[in-house]
Amino acid sequence: MDANVQAEFELGMIGLGTMGRNLLLNMADHGYKVIGYDKNPKQVELLDTEPGEVPGEKDLARFIAKIKTPRAIVLLVPAGKIVDAVIDELSPLLDEGDLIIDGGNSKWTDTEERVKKLEEKGLHFFGMGISGGEEGARKGPSMMPGGNKAAYEHVKNILESIAAKAKGEPCVTYIGPGASGHYVKMVHNGIEYAIMQLLAEAYELMKEGAGMSNKEIHEVLKSWNEGRLQSFLMEITADIFNYYDPESGEYLLDKILDVAKSKGTGKWTSQFAMDINLPIPSIDVAVSTRDLSKYKSLREKLESRSRVASDKKGLKAELDNFQEELEKAVYFSFVSVYAQGMFLLKTASEAYDWNLNLAEISKIWRSGCIIRSAFLEDMYQAFSAQPPIEHLFGDDEIGAKLQEDLPATRKVISTAMQFGFSLPVFASALNYYQSMHDGRMPTNLIQAQRDYFGAHTYELKGEEGTYHSKWTEAFAPSIRIS
Ligand code: 6PG
Repeated sequence: MDANVQAEFELGMIGLGTMGRNLLLNMADHGYKVIGYDKNPKQVELLDTEPGEVPGEKDLARFIAKIKTPRAIVLLVPAGKIVDAVIDELSPLLDEGDLIIDGGNSKWTDTEERVKKLEEKGLHFFGMGISGGEEGARKGPSMMPGGNKAAYEHVKNILESIAAKAKGEPCVTYIGPGASGHYVKMVHNGIEYAIMQLLAEAYELMKEGAGMSNKEIHEVLKSWNEGRLQSFLMEITADIFNYYDPESGEYLLDKILDVAKSKGTGKWTSQFAMDINLPIPSIDVAVSTRDLSKYKSLREKLESRSRVASDKKGLKAELDNFQEELEKAVYFSFVSVYAQGMFLLKTASEAYDWNLNLAEISKIWRSGCIIRSAFLEDMYQAFSAQPPIEHLFGDDEIGAKLQEDLPATRKVISTAMQFGFSLPVFASALNYYQSMHDGRMPTNLIQAQRDYFGAHTYELKGEEGTYHSKWTEAFAPSIRIS
């Protein structure tokens, strides 16, 4: 290390793109002495042009030497191989007890490996989900740090200062060990995907079903955003319906191609949920529907072979009380989506021994993050109950509200589907609710089928052990296998 360099900074940021730069400026606003580094000298120069006194450093060794030990270094670089490349370059320059925090949307299994690898070198590694986009990073994000608990104490104050505040409380908390922070952020994004798709389906019903104009849709969403559906995604969606393309003067939304992209966090949520056999059907279909949208030319070709698109015109005549019922169906589905995501977190916490606190997670999602909503206050209260509820549907108040909105939800979904509307998130949210509230499923038939063709065995009601039958021999008795 350069002996002439003074270690005066409390935290260093590697990666001075939009997120890294804004987070660093946010820290400086709160009185912290922080420094930035980027491999690209232009990004360092860009930091120097920002108002405020946040210095940038172009030399990695000097950057490291300028940070007080035990060092706290945040990485905000693209997820994937770049994270490993930065860690490899960085770790030989660090001292035992230093902490690296990956603030990107890294795959949690990669984080798990990085934690182990760096632990062997005496270094702490945190996976920290950060939500809120550019504005959140600058003015207050929601943060989900996971890793070594003792190491968290070194960065607790700074994170609490820069976090968004909900009812005066910071939207950051120690999530749990290992890669739990990145896992929780992944599930946050899965919920985000499903809510976005839900709002897209509501848009389709309002526009193609009820024949509402963009202006009318804007007004409805704005009014919903003043009630129990208040949320960041509702607010920005309302804005989108009031945004004009400056060149043509037309609504920009109407000019945007109906093909959605994604970076993978939604897909991971589905994949990892399936790994632990935990159903999150609304997130699954939200991911699939984005993928389906990519088959634009095939969809266009097939459209002429079916009545689906023209059938939609018939819905309008069937609608009465539409806006009121749609609001109920959106609320119902919103809650079902959150419930699925939270049940995944509960189950993952048990599977990986993370001891996640669902009340704390709800609490830090109340502000700053993309899925923040008025409902999160209710969810926070529900998960704070003692003894803890097993599932969000088990909360008395929430359960009663869903029960009340169930008839309208069923009506909106079934009527719209009769007229050709595809409602993957609405329908899956309702199906999930209905299956989870049904003590009897037709799954006995699945077991019989499996045993019939593959001798996979079945269990009998009220009996111990597993059984197999010779299904082609009528009245052959069940054979106990174990
Ligand atoms: C956030 C967002 C952010 C990003 C996601 C989704 O919480 O601030 O979730 O992380 O928008 O990566 O991106 P895709 O839709 O491109 O997958």
